[in-house]
Amino acid sequence: MRLKDKVAIITGAAAGMGAATARLFAREGAKLLLTDIDDKDGPAVAADIVRTNGDARFEKHDVSKEADWQRVVDAALAAYGRIDILINNAGISGSIPDKLDIEMWDRQFSINARGNFLGLRAVIPVMQKQKAGAIVNISSISGVVGQEYVHMGYNAAKGAVRTMTKAAAVQYAPEGIRVNSVHPGILPPMRTSKLTADPAMREKMVRAVPMRRAGEVDEVAYANLFLASDEASYITGVELMVDGGYTAM
Ligand SMILES: NC(=O)c1ccc[n+]([C@@H]2O[C@H](COP(=O)([O-])OP(=O)(O)OC[C@H]3O[C@@H](n4cnc5c(N)ncnc54)[C@H](O)[C@@H]3O)[C@@H](O)[C@H]2O)c1
Repeated sequence: MRLKDKVAIITGAAAGMGAATARLFAREGAKLLLTDIDDKDGPAVAADIVRTNGDARFEKHDVSKEADWQRVVDAALAAYGRIDILINNAGISGSIPDKLDIEMWDRQFSINARGNFLGLRAVIPVMQKQKAGAIVNISSISGVVGQEYVHMGYNAAKGAVRTMTKAAAVQYAPEGIRVNSVHPGILPPMRTSKLTADPAMREKMVRAVPMRRAGEVDEVAYANLFLASDEASYITGVELMVDGGYTAM
């Protein structure tokens, strides 16, 4: 097993890539503290994992709230005594019709950028004490290039995730903490997607992908697994595209 007895916090674990990553990590032997604002589907994912002999708990959590992060870290330490891995995955979409909406800009920075930073801020002191830890920040192809159908606040917030990953990687590498980013391309629509949930729009988006198909949530989960595991022990500060070649063009 590739994560035997590792303790992992996964945010946004009630759905999509977070849930897929949780299920894969459980199969690979990790002990999981799953979090989400959704306290219906989140506990259901944890219960499913427990039913199949995995080890998972759920904490309701808004990643944009500092106090929530402290509660999550305390819960992980109380349950398992350490934190080896953080998958900073929770997020909201920017695919809305009004590309100049100012509230969307603020929400993007509050959840997708600040939420990610608060995660780093919460777990790094624990990992410093352990002198070990692996953090995977979920950015996007939108953190690297622009798209016609996404609010620029999403691109800017995901770009912030990309570069804060590199800053944290450089700052904490001497203390045994690795920080990398994963950049999914066209994946199943997010719960909060508007424009990109439309089938005609999706067809157009997929035509722009060199592999001519959307990605599957497990394809991102496997990238998270590699970077979180000791197999990636000399890898920090990288951005791993999981995009069917989209950003290679
Ligand atoms: N789906 C895509 O096409 C795509 C592409 C690139 C990057 N991403 C990124 O991948 C990550 C996962 O996306 P997904 O496709 O699984 O989306 P999703 O909407 O299926 O899942 C995201 C989860 O995050 C949770 N969440 C939202 N706001 C939260 C908050 N403030 N606090 C805690 N939890 C919160 C939601 O309840 C949801 O369960 C996100 O960071 C997203 O930006 C998605």
